[in-house]
Amino acid sequence: MTAPLIDPFQRAIDYLRVSVTDRCDFRCVYCMSENMTFLPKKELLTLEELDRVCSAFIRMGVKKLRITGGEPLVRRGIMTFFHEMSRHLDSGALNELTLTTNGSQLGRFAQDLHGAGVRRINVSLDTMDADKFAQITRWGRLPQVLNGIDAAQRAGMRIKINAVALKGFNEDELFPMVEWCHARDMDLTFIEVMPMGDIGNENRLDQYWPLKDLRATLAQQYTLTDLAERTGGPARYVRLEETGQKIGFITPLTHNFCESCNRVRLTCTGELFMCLGQEDMADLRPALRDNPSSDAPLEEAIRAAINLKPKGHDFDYSRQEVAGQMSRHMSHTGG
Ligand code: GTP
Ligand code: 5AD
Ligand code: SF4
Repeated sequence: MTAPLIDPFQRAIDYLRVSVTDRCDFRCVYCMSENMTFLPKKELLTLEELDRVCSAFIRMGVKKLRITGGEPLVRRGIMTFFHEMSRHLDSGALNELTLTTNGSQLGRFAQDLHGAGVRRINVSLDTMDADKFAQITRWGRLPQVLNGIDAAQRAGMRIKINAVALKGFNEDELFPMVEWCHARDMDLTFIEVMPMGDIGNENRLDQYWPLKDLRATLAQQYTLTDLAERTGGPARYVRLEETGQKIGFITPLTHNFCESCNRVRLTCTGELFMCLGQEDMADLRPALRDNPSSDAPLEEAIRAAINLKPKGHDFDYSRQEVAGQMSRHMSHTGG
């Protein structure tokens, strides 16, 4: 193992998120516009190249690897990649191999994912109402996702539901979702909507439901106890004393968590984004492709990139306008 990755603000980088495809079988309204242009397949890193980059990061101290997209499970051959990565779990170099998914393909892949050592997955689900689900995802169908969740639980994986808090959309489902997650023994995390990419006619400010408001509503029916516990991600958790369940809050807008940032993001074309909310990136592809038999230049390029990691994002809605907007969609950088 080589020296660990430390950024200019003395934050240790031990969490890599990898977007393996920019494609998705849904078109969530806050995430994509209806007509998306996706990358031509030849632009993508091959699974072998993704393996080289991830393995280099793991040598440099990454302990947590999260596979994202787009929808990671629509990438052809992705299970081969998961099985390859599981060698790093076996060797003890990696603590966690996991994914963030929309759940549509879990019926097919849950068993196999568990076989590759995946034990805890995040499933994005913003509503439990079938009509609203079809509306928000444009192309998704709720029963398919629920079947996927069933399959994942049967396979022995723990599930965290990620719901983007959307004003006027899922406000009325706060308590039903909390109760449903409790009944099924799943964690639940709410996320504030971030200004990532152009989403056509929708307005971010109209969608924005600050989590401090959501939290206050929750506190009308439950006793909330803040937990010190962390999973290595940005969520901060509370326990609902009445049920014992865990609820997470990801609050890039109302409470910035950048000072404890421990992560960077690799895209499916080999760009390394040092921050979700900044445009800076380093292209790792030349170091990778120009040196097929040595990873030293790749490691050097990674180290140089970490040295450029910015302090944090500039997302801000406080002046009743959207500041810090990113041109790229969430599916580009991978959530
Ligand atoms: P755990 O491992 O369960 O803690 O997961 P996590 O919260 O790290 O990852 P998850 O994929 O569940 O993240 C959910 C969402 O949180 C992402 O899709 C993003 O919307 C948001 N998020 C994750 N990391 C960051 C980050 O570094 N900055 C910002 N602003 N948002 C983030
Ligand atoms: N703001 C917040 N979360 C978003 N996601 C996608 N786009 C946004 C956005 N603009 C979420 C998805 C999923 C994860 C990958 O990112 O709902 O939970
Ligand atoms: Fe880290 Fe950037 Fe996310 Fe802040 S916005 S937590 S610095 S990736």
